[in-house]
Amino acid sequence: MADLSVNICGIESPNPFWLASAPPTNTGDQVARAFDAGWGGAVWKTLGDEDENPIENVYSRYSSIDLNGQRMAGLNNIELITDRSLEMNLIEIAEVKRRYPDNVVVVSLMVDSNAEAWDSIIKQVEQAGADAIELNFGCPHGMSERGMGAAVGQVPEYTCDITGWAKASATVPVFVKLTPNITDIRVAARAAKNGGADAVSLINTINSITGVDLDSFTPRPVVGNQSSHGGYCGPAVKPIALNMVASIAADPFTQDLPISGIGGIATWEDVAEYILLGATTIQVCTAVMHYGYRIVEDMTEGLSNYLDSKGMSSVNELRGLSVNKVTDWQSLDINYVVKATIDQDKCIHCGLCYIACQDGAHQAIGTKRTDDDKTDVWIIDDLCVGCNLCSLVCPVQDCITMEEREFGQTHMSWNDLMGEDPPGDLFPRPKHGLTIGPES
Ligand SMILES: Cc1cc2nc3c(=O)[nH]c(=O)nc-3n(C[C@H](O)[C@H](O)[C@H](O)COP(=O)(O)O)c2cc1C
Repeated sequence: MADLSVNICGIESPNPFWLASAPPTNTGDQVARAFDAGWGGAVWKTLGDEDENPIENVYSRYSSIDLNGQRMAGLNNIELITDRSLEMNLIEIAEVKRRYPDNVVVVSLMVDSNAEAWDSIIKQVEQAGADAIELNFGCPHGMSERGMGAAVGQVPEYTCDITGWAKASATVPVFVKLTPNITDIRVAARAAKNGGADAVSLINTINSITGVDLDSFTPRPVVGNQSSHGGYCGPAVKPIALNMVASIAADPFTQDLPISGIGGIATWEDVAEYILLGATTIQVCTAVMHYGYRIVEDMTEGLSNYLDSKGMSSVNELRGLSVNKVTDWQSLDINYVVKATIDQDKCIHCGLCYIACQDGAHQAIGTKRTDDDKTDVWIIDDLCVGCNLCSLVCPVQDCITMEEREFGQTHMSWNDLMGEDPPGDLFPRPKHGLTIGPES
């Protein structure tokens, strides 16, 4: 069986499966049960300085999006960092580390933006036995209004400076957890690296309002007769997070910065995708809030079987294999041609592909009503631009497939066509005078 153990900035983890800092890591009892279930590591629910920043949560904190019967396809929350005492958390961290020396305990932290506050809390969690700390620069609600969380992560200079303070105090590795509520994640990752970060974790939650009660006119989650924007996570955010992980892994300035990938992970396939795009460990929140700790059993078995099927003896062989397969649009092969094919034996004559192509794409599907009142459909090859839409809307598995044509053509990109060199620096220079680029 393939070896699932990983090493991230010097920390050995029995597997890449970690819990994200969130309700599933709120107490020592929970983290212990998670380790018993098979999780390799846990990032403790964010601790703060309760004297400087008392935590009072509102009742009614979560709301969600359901999609065609899939509950919690997207989850939104307006919860704050831990509302349990720092003292109690430190005692439980020490106890968990004593009982589970081989599992990784990373402690997430968020305090005021001054070096003394960071120094004080870092010393305390290190004393308790934390294997690493994670700086929460991502929380988009509640704490950000007090100048912490995303308020730090959205300003590269703050990210860099506060990471620097944490590095000056910490003897254990420092992870910086990034907010996705920015324009270009690479700016934030570069700032973290410039501050000395040992690794980055991403993504934290995305600013969101999941919906409005159409009778009371109050957005969700309802708190009295008001609401507040919250942080979005769960399966819906995975594509956004994958792109951000891939951009950091591909950026020449941060490509050696280890990544802990987060966002919408629920299955071993999700885990494999994150690792292929450059993550060393992954973190899970929503899926565990939905289905419990035991989902790690399927992840472990599924990832091991997958590695075996690929002839890989270690999960480390998988890391980053897809990073170079993400390129700028101008480098894609214009000579690559695919066209849709309909398997008439599988077609249920619903006509959905025809409508989608006719109204929403390139009018490349022909149709006629048969004598027995069915809708026959076929691809008009010359008009098909290979956009994939018909295969995406078709309700029958493998009924419409995309077939490669015109083999043997040489690779021809937009750059080749225009006689242009590929852009040397894919990362445009900041025009606002920030000194966070490679030269800084
Ligand atoms: C209810 C809730 C509370 C959270 N609390 C924290 C927190 O205290 N600190 C933190 O860094 N992230 C927090 N998060 C964000 C998660 O750690 C994670 O980054 C995010 O949910 C994306 O992962 P997922 O799609 O697996 O849920 C919280 C998320 C949820 C849903």
